Amino acid sequence: MYRSRLGTDLSDITLDYVSSINDDSQIALYDIIGSQAHTLMLYENQIITKNDVKKILSALESLKNVKLDVSSGAEDIHELIETLVIKKAGMASGGKMHTARSRNDQVALDIRMKIRDDIDIICNCLLDTIEALVSLAKNHQKTIMPLYTHLQQAQVGLFSHYLLAQADVLFRDFERLYATFSHVNQSPLGAGPVGGTSIAIDRHSTAKMLGFDGLVENSLDATSTRDFVAEYVAMIAILMTNLSRISEDFIIWSTFEFSFIELADEFTSPSSVMPQKKNPDILELTRGKTSEVIGNLTAILTTIKGLASGYGRDLQQIKSSIWSTSKISISALLILKSILLTLHVNDKKMKKAAESSDLIALDIAEKLVQNGIPFRTTHKIAGSLVHIAHLSDKPMNKLSIKEISKIAHETKVNPNLIMKIIQSITITSSLKERKSFGSSGYDEQKRMIEDRIKKINNYRINVTKRDNDISKALDNLSSKINELIK
Ligand code: ARG
Repeated sequence: MYRSRLGTDLSDITLDYVSSINDDSQIALYDIIGSQAHTLMLYENQIITKNDVKKILSALESLKNVKLDVSSGAEDIHELIETLVIKKAGMASGGKMHTARSRNDQVALDIRMKIRDDIDIICNCLLDTIEALVSLAKNHQKTIMPLYTHLQQAQVGLFSHYLLAQADVLFRDFERLYATFSHVNQSPLGAGPVGGTSIAIDRHSTAKMLGFDGLVENSLDATSTRDFVAEYVAMIAILMTNLSRISEDFIIWSTFEFSFIELADEFTSPSSVMPQKKNPDILELTRGKTSEVIGNLTAILTTIKGLASGYGRDLQQIKSSIWSTSKISISALLILKSILLTLHVNDKKMKKAAESSDLIALDIAEKLVQNGIPFRTTHKIAGSLVHIAHLSDKPMNKLSIKEISKIAHETKVNPNLIMKIIQSITITSSLKERKSFGSSGYDEQKRMIEDRIKKINNYRINVTKRDNDISKALDNLSSKINELIK
């Protein structure tokens, strides 16, 4: 349709090379709605007639319900939709739809509408997954487990504490995405190809009709920039790395050696050959697909970095990276939520692992500190106790006064005090006495759970409000259209 300046048509191979039509199915509806708002604005500003607006809007409306034929030879969805509108509305009216806009502002508009919807979906999925973490935490405030650093047992903790940590990680992902929305939800429509238009359009009115918070004002910026895409995909890449780490924990904990948890059958895969296998393939794929999202971010950044200002066709390539990023993250979140809700937690195994090592060493040192001994000295005493216990192959609370006398003498600490402390500290007493803000102690769990439940509810209200604002704008647009075409 656009090739009047050019002599020959594209060969099939070149058309296939240049066309984005297959990627564009994801933005077809946004393109139609954006075109409707633009057309309505043209009419309201006396740029086209009532007869024109009616015909164009009816044609666009009818396209909402049909499967667009992508094999028509169009270079992209914008060309295809305009061609179909002209076919239905006639050239005299349909030919006016593209007045005062360009595919450059159009595609930027469509991508922004798609990403803002995806952000809302992902924000809701995040809150659902966080809710699943917190509700599981509620049931595991007494479930003792080892906490790890370097994947070596470090301190005794609670499973709820682990789950709440992951909830906080995902809250930050939520907050980042929620903030990104405000950069995305700005309308580029009416920027034209790059420098604006001589036709007296009203950009503010189309922005409002489409539920945008404002405009990308500068027409060069509006058509050139994809920083909002990079920002969105970067936020999702961070989110995915977080999901990947949770997946890795669960993969390790579901090994026979750990057996802390067991994944529900529907989130595991068998082996084609080893009948006993129950593999955590689904979580492995979250880990694997995270790489794909990071790859998408790299593809987007490397596409943008060398582009001269103004639209360049390279920008067409980044669309599929956006779709893939959204799809992966939405599925990963939905799946993780269901995994959490169906997870079998082996409390006994977790507790046993916490009991069978020296997780109370720091607690012993801290108890001595509370008796006025400098921490560096108590660290030495507790370390020696662990060493002696290992040598004599017994737990620390079974050491005799004779066995501890050397370290007591060296550090000038009363051996009876050491004996009293090693005999009284257990993993449970450790968790009772752990009171610091945000710690793994018993008391902190309840407070954090209550706080996070409130936070989920507040965040839900915010997302719903934002969702409703957009729906309201689009509903208004739809009523205006129906009024005109009825
Ligand atoms: N299919 C193009 C894309 O996705 C639409 C914009 C084309 N603009 C142009 N000046 N060739 O980016």
